[in-house]
Amino acid sequence: MSRRRLAILLSGRGSNFEAICDAIGDGRIPDAAIVAVISDVADAPGLNRAVERGLPAFPIPRGSESRREHERKILTILDSARPDLICLAGYMRLLSPDFVSRYRGRILNIHPALLPKFPGLDVQRRALEAGELESGCTVHFVDEGTDSGPVVLQRRVPILPGDTVETLSARILKEEHRAYPEAIARVLKELPRRT
Ligand code: GRF
Repeated sequence: MSRRRLAILLSGRGSNFEAICDAIGDGRIPDAAIVAVISDVADAPGLNRAVERGLPAFPIPRGSESRREHERKILTILDSARPDLICLAGYMRLLSPDFVSRYRGRILNIHPALLPKFPGLDVQRRALEAGELESGCTVHFVDEGTDSGPVVLQRRVPILPGDTVETLSARILKEEHRAYPEAIARVLKELPRRT
């Protein structure tokens, strides 16, 4: 049977993307391959990592074009890469309803908070400022809202006295790197193959 096809969308560092690659490599995500790594930031470190790993890497900066035109370019790449699953890994743009409906049930995101608490941006700081005693990460399906789709799995971490945005973010990120591959493997198991 052919391998499950993953596409990655990222905008920056790409540590979750690399965690996914490593999990494919050691079998935690069985029988899968990354068929496209797309970034809206041309010099994103994650895109360079993709090139170093010999993966098909596509810089698609937005520039002055409309969201629709920008997404059309991304969709053209995706439509020819034919992914089973699209994994947002630090992709810093909202997807349009058209995009979401074209790949409904086949787009995952990872978010550094325990949704539905703290959707959106700057969430580690917001969790600290709210006096939370714990935080964590959430892998969820993407729908038309902001970080609002069905949850696949969550991992919790404590918030410790003296934590800063940096220390909390690092603690959460470590869990993200375990949670995202586990969630992808779980979703692929249930996901019908594309015909
Ligand atoms: C992660 O914290 C992820 O939860 C959020 O963006 C960050 C991306 O980090 N969506 P990286 O690019 O995967 O290192």
